[in-house]
Amino acid sequence: MKKSEELIKRIFIPNVIYEGILTCYSIEKSPHAANMGFSFNDKFKLIIKPFKNTRTYEYVSKMKQAVINIFNDVKYFYEVNFGKINEKSFNLSRTLKIPKLKDSLFYLECQLEEIEEDQIRPKLIMNIVNFVSKKTHLKPITRAEFAVLEALIHSTRVRVFKELNMQEELENLLSLVDYYERLIKRVAPNTLYDNMMFEIDLKIQDELRYEKGKDKNT
Ligand SMILES: Cc1cc2nc3c(=O)[nH]c(=O)nc-3n(C[C@H](O)[C@H](O)[C@H](O)COP(=O)(O)O)c2cc1C
Repeated sequence: MKKSEELIKRIFIPNVIYEGILTCYSIEKSPHAANMGFSFNDKFKLIIKPFKNTRTYEYVSKMKQAVINIFNDVKYFYEVNFGKINEKSFNLSRTLKIPKLKDSLFYLECQLEEIEEDQIRPKLIMNIVNFVSKKTHLKPITRAEFAVLEALIHSTRVRVFKELNMQEELENLLSLVDYYERLIKRVAPNTLYDNMMFEIDLKIQDELRYEKGKDKNT
């Protein structure tokens, strides 16, 4: 682990939130994936903060193991968010033998060490037991990626803010998404980014219409 520890310290800055895709086993041992921010504390333990109502919280707190898949292509976050992956998208991680995304060239295998409980967003502290980094190709960063990622994150908060009656936060969030939509039209018109943004916008409209108990929106 020493060599990988050094690598991790070279790549990640403590207390910076990075975006990854967490994969793990469900209680029934089927593969599960969710977009999840992660960071490192000063001791280089990996921290995730899933909302308490997520399946990720349930599964990782019970199964105690997870993989953080790292991508520099926003397409993967979009696919996970919109359920465009299936059983065939997974294979097993090298050491823990738990689900990881097949396309993942860079992943961290983690073992749960401790949970700092919280009513809304508990903190899960994890040890890295293995680190796999195959040769990755670097691709240029575009503002379009950033805009889609931000809009995706905001889209997952609409329902929560609505249900908690956090009107000001909701309006702020919607105006940000509007800004990112206009940005995409400028920096990547008629591209896959434009299409993703279109679908994100539809999802937000759905979430705004959604009323608890009135339909089976998942
Ligand atoms: C890039 C990105 C990062 C996210 N980070 C978090 C996070 O740190 N914690 C969280 O609870 N939800 C986060 N979300 C939202 C979850 O992915 C989303 O609520 C998902 O539906 C949870 O799935 P699950 O219930 O299957 O675990 C993030 C979404 C995106 C797009």
